[in-house]
Amino acid sequence: MTAEKIAIISGKGGVGKTVITANLGSVMSHVFDEDVIVIDTDVSSSHLGIHFGFYSNPATLNSVLKGNHKPEEGVYEHETGLKIVPGSLNYDDIRDVDVYNMEEVIKEFEDKADVILLDCGPGIDRETSAAIRSADKVLYVSKPSFTSLIDVMRTDSLVDELDKETMGIVLNMVKGKKHEIDSSEVESFTDMKVLAEVPHDNLVEESTSKGVPVSIYNPHAKASRSIEDLAGRLLGKEPEKKKWGIYRKFREFLPGL
Ligand SMILES: Nc1ncnc2c1ncn2[C@@H]1O[C@H](COP(=O)(O)OP(=O)(O)OP(=O)(O)O)[C@@H](O)[C@H]1O
Ligand SMILES: [Mg+2]
Repeated sequence: MTAEKIAIISGKGGVGKTVITANLGSVMSHVFDEDVIVIDTDVSSSHLGIHFGFYSNPATLNSVLKGNHKPEEGVYEHETGLKIVPGSLNYDDIRDVDVYNMEEVIKEFEDKADVILLDCGPGIDRETSAAIRSADKVLYVSKPSFTSLIDVMRTDSLVDELDKETMGIVLNMVKGKKHEIDSSEVESFTDMKVLAEVPHDNLVEESTSKGVPVSIYNPHAKASRSIEDLAGRLLGKEPEKKKWGIYRKFREFLPGL
C-alpha cells in the first residue's frame, strides 16, 4: 500500500489544525476503519501528541529527522488503533532539528498506512514548506475571518508553487455570528470548496485537557459530528461502526471520563 499524504495547513496560527488532524485521524481510524498515521511536522512547536495523552516519547519525528531513531520507532499505536508520530516537547530536540530531509523521512511511512495526515505549523517558513512538499495534497483549516482567509490565500501561492493539489477548506470554530464570513463568501473569495463547518465547541478544550480527541471523548458533540461528516466526505465512505460503541470502548480505557 502507498498512503495518500494530506498536509493540514492554514497560514494563520491557532485556527485548529492540530485539533482537526487529531480528530480526523481518530474518526478515519475508528469510525471508518482506515489505516491512518498522523504525524506532527510542526517540529518546533509540537502539540499533536498532547491530544492523545502523549507527553514524553523516546522517539519522535524530531529524533527520526536527526537520524537518532528509525522511522518505525517513531510510530506509536494508540489504544484506538490510530498510529501517531509525535513531535518532541524538549527544547534540545527542537533547537537541533533540521527539516532538510523531511520529505525523504515522510516517504518512509508511506507503506505503513492508507492515509497519512501531516499536522503542519503556522506560517510559510521552511518547516511548513517541507511538510507541504512531503504531501500529495493539502487541506486548509481557517476561521471564518478575513485575517485567517488572507493567510490561506498567501499559503495558496506556496502550494501552487510546489504544485500540490488543494482539497478544500475546513471552516473551524464557527459561531454563527453576523460578522463571520459564511461558506459561500469563503468559496468566492478563495476559489476553494468549503468541505465542512466545524462549530466552536467547548468540549474541544475539555477533551484536550484529558488527552483525548473530542470525537472519542464525545462522538455526539457538535464538533465531533461535523468532523465525522468531513471524514466520510474525504474518504467517500459511510461510517462502519456505531459511535456509541466507540465511546463505550473508550470509557473502558479512560474510566475517569
Ligand atoms: N472547534 C473548536 N471549538 C473550540 N475550540 C477549538 C476548536 N478548534 C480548536 N479549538 C481550540 O483553539 C486553539 C487552537 O487550536 P489548535 O492548537 O488545534 O490550532 P493550530 O492551528 O494547530 O495552532 P498552531 O498554528 O499553533 O499549530 C486550542 O486551544 C483548541 O482547543
Ligand atoms: Mg498546531
